[in-house]
Amino acid sequence: MPEAKHNVVGTAPVRRDAWAKVSGGARFVADLDVTGAWVGGVLRSSVARGRLRRIERDPGFDWKRVVVLTAADLRGVNAVPMINDDLPLLAERDITFATQPLALVAAPDRSTLAAALAALLPDVEPMEPVLDLDAALAGAPVVPGRDNVIADYTVENGDLAAGFAAGDRVVEGVYHTGLQEQLYLETQGVIASPHPDGGVIVQGSLQCPYYVHRALSVGLGLAEDMVVVRQTVTGGAFGGKEDYPSILALEAAQLALAARAPVRMIMDRHEDLAVTPKRHPSRISHRTAVREDGVITAAEIDVVLDAGAFTTLSPVVLSRCILHAAGVYRVPCVRIRGRAVATNTPPNGAFRGFGVPQAIFAVERQMDRIAAELGIDPVEIRRRNLLVDGDALPTGQVLADARAVRLVLDRALELARRTGPETAPAGHERRGTGVSLFFHGCGFTGDGEDRIATRLRVRWGGGQLEILTSNVEMGQGAGTVLPMIAAEALGLPAERIWLAPPDTTIVPNSGPTVASRTTMVVGRVLLEACEKLFAKVRRALGDAEGLPEQALEFKDGRFRSGDRDLGDFAAVADRVVGETTIEARYAPPPGQEWDAETHRGSAYQAYSWGCNVIETAVDPDTFEVRPLRLTAVVEIGRAIHPVLAAGQVEGGSLQALGWGALEEIKTRSGRYLNDRLATYIIPTTLDTPEMVVDLAELPSSRGPFGAKGLGELPMNGCAPALAASVQDAVGLSVSELPVSPERLLELSLARDAGADGSETP
Ligand code: MOS
Repeated sequence: MPEAKHNVVGTAPVRRDAWAKVSGGARFVADLDVTGAWVGGVLRSSVARGRLRRIERDPGFDWKRVVVLTAADLRGVNAVPMINDDLPLLAERDITFATQPLALVAAPDRSTLAAALAALLPDVEPMEPVLDLDAALAGAPVVPGRDNVIADYTVENGDLAAGFAAGDRVVEGVYHTGLQEQLYLETQGVIASPHPDGGVIVQGSLQCPYYVHRALSVGLGLAEDMVVVRQTVTGGAFGGKEDYPSILALEAAQLALAARAPVRMIMDRHEDLAVTPKRHPSRISHRTAVREDGVITAAEIDVVLDAGAFTTLSPVVLSRCILHAAGVYRVPCVRIRGRAVATNTPPNGAFRGFGVPQAIFAVERQMDRIAAELGIDPVEIRRRNLLVDGDALPTGQVLADARAVRLVLDRALELARRTGPETAPAGHERRGTGVSLFFHGCGFTGDGEDRIATRLRVRWGGGQLEILTSNVEMGQGAGTVLPMIAAEALGLPAERIWLAPPDTTIVPNSGPTVASRTTMVVGRVLLEACEKLFAKVRRALGDAEGLPEQALEFKDGRFRSGDRDLGDFAAVADRVVGETTIEARYAPPPGQEWDAETHRGSAYQAYSWGCNVIETAVDPDTFEVRPLRLTAVVEIGRAIHPVLAAGQVEGGSLQALGWGALEEIKTRSGRYLNDRLATYIIPTTLDTPEMVVDLAELPSSRGPFGAKGLGELPMNGCAPALAASVQDAVGLSVSELPVSPERLLELSLARDAGADGSETP
C-alpha cells in the first residue's frame, strides 16, 4: 500500500481540552451551580442477601422536610433498562447484594439528607449469601426466580478429539483474577432537573448519553422527547461510566420529579468505591494439547466470570472474553465455553478491556506453563504458534493482517534489547524479563455495530464546521482526534472545526463511547460525512463557475482550476453552499457475517495487536515486586495523533500493572472491605516503570485513514508479562492476580515444603 500523504493525521496538536483542564476552567458536574437544587442520597442494604420486611421512619424526624421514595413510590418501572431489565432500581422484598438501594431521599441540604438517611430504619431478615462460584453454578439461591447462569456461550472450531489425539501431551492450568476499580479521577455524578412540561433533564459525568437517555425514557415511562441528557466535562471513565450513570440518573430523576426540584447526586470517593461496578473476577481453565516441539494441536478453555447479582453488561463482557480466550495463537481444534454466573455481590460491569484482560492473563500464563513443561523458551513457544495471515480464529474468522503479531513481537524484543537495562541489580535483588502478546477486537462484537447503526452529522455555516456526535471526550482524546479527521478530510485549519455539545437534543445517536470504537467506527462515519460535504461543495462550485467537476482540483486545502485559485475550502463552501447539514450513517463492511447463537463468523471488523516486554526487580526476602521497564509495541493501523496514542498506551499499561501487582479488593460477606483510597492501592508515579512505547502501523481499510481501535488494547498485556518476569526472576509461577508479596511468600513456602512453587489446580 503506498504511503498516503497526510497534513493533519500523524501530527500532534495540543489537545483541545488541555487549557480548560489545566487552568481550572473546565466545569465538571460538581462545579455546576443549579439554583434551588436539592441533594439526593440512597439508603443501602448492609447485608448481601436477605428479606426487606419494612423501612421504619423515626418519628423524631420531621419527614415533611424531605422526599423519600421506596419501591412502591417509583414512577414508571422499578428497573434499570440495560441489556436485560432484571436489576431493580430499589429492592422490593428481596435483597440480593450488599449496598443494594432500598430507598431514595432528597433533601434541601446535605445535613438534612444525612439526618433523614440515619432516621430510616430498614427491618431486614438476613440470609446466607451465595458468594462461591461453584455453589452458584450448583444452583444455590442468589436471586429468587432467576437462573444463576446469566449467559452460557460456546465457540467451537475443528475436531477437538482429533486435535487432542494429535498432541503428545496435555498441559493444564487454572487462572484466577479479581475485582478491579476503574478509579477515574472524577467520581460519579449527575444533576437531574424536572422540566415544567413533565420531562426531565439530566446532566452528568458519563460515556454514553443515549444509554442514559433510553434508561430514563423506558424507566420513567416518558416519551423520548421528554428526556434530555447532557454530558458534562468528564474526568475519566474507563468503562466505569458506561453502565452506572444509567442507575444514578434514574435515582436522581425519580427524586427530581417527586421533589419538583433539581436534585444533585455527586458521589464522594468512599461511596463510589463501595457501590459502583468493578471488573469481573474470573476463573479460566485451560487444557492444551501440544506436540513435543511445542506446536499446539488443540485447546479446551472454560471461562467463568462472576457477574454479581444482576445481568447489567455481563453477557457482552463474557462474549468478548471468550472471543479472545485462545489468544494470538493458531489453535486448529478448539472449544471455548464461557459462563457468567450470578453471586450475591454488587453487579460487575464495564472496565477498559471488557473481559479481554482476564482472557489474555490466562492464555499467556498458559503459554508460559507450556514453555516450562516442555523446556522451551517462552518467546520460542509463542513463535511456533503465532497466527499468520490466512489463519482462522476460533470463530472461523480468517485474518488478513495477522502478520501484525509477529511484527509487534520482533519490534518489542529488538527495542527492549537496544534500550537495555540502565542500572545493575542493587544488592541481592533478582531481575527477570517477561513477554506477553495480546490483541483487541475493535468496535462492538459481531453485528453489534449494525444494531447501533451510528448516525453522525456535520454542519457547515459561517466559515465553521460543527461535528454532531454522541461520542464524548472523557480524557481519552476523542475531542481532539475527531476534529483532526475532519480537518484532514476537508483541508481545514483546526480553529474552523467545533464539536457540538453532547446533548441528546443536539446530537444524533452515534452510539456509546465504548469498545475502542470511537476513532475507528465513528471516525469513519465522520470521514464519510465530510466526504459527502466535500462532494456537495465541489458540485456547487462547478455549477457556480460553469466548470465540469473534473476541471476542479483540490490541493493543500485550496480549490484550483488550471492556474486559477478559487479559494480555500471555507471560503468556497461559504460562497457556494452557505449553510448545510449532512448526515452519514454506518454501513456494514461487505462480507461481515456473524451468527450470535453459535459465535461463528467475523467477531470483529478489525483487531489491534500488542506486545509487552517487562523487566522486573524482585526482592527475594520481602518479595517486593518492582517493574523497572516496560517496552510496549502496539499495532493500531494508523495513529491519528501519535502523542495521544502513546499516552493511551502509557496510561492503560499502568492501569494494567496496577491490576497485575497491587490492586486487590478484599471482600467479606459480599462486601468490599477496602472501599477507600487509603486502602485501595493503585500505582503512583513512584511505582511506574520506565516506559518505551512504539506504534506500529499496518493501515486498515476499516477505519479513517487506516486507523483502528486503541483505548482498551494496552490494558490487556501487562499483568501476564509482569507475572512472567517475576517467574523469570525468582522461579515462582503465579496463576492468580495480583502478583503480591503475600502470594509470592505463600508460593515460596510451598516450594520450600516440597511442592513445585507453582499454583496448580
Ligand atoms: Mo468500555 S469497558 O467498552 O467503556
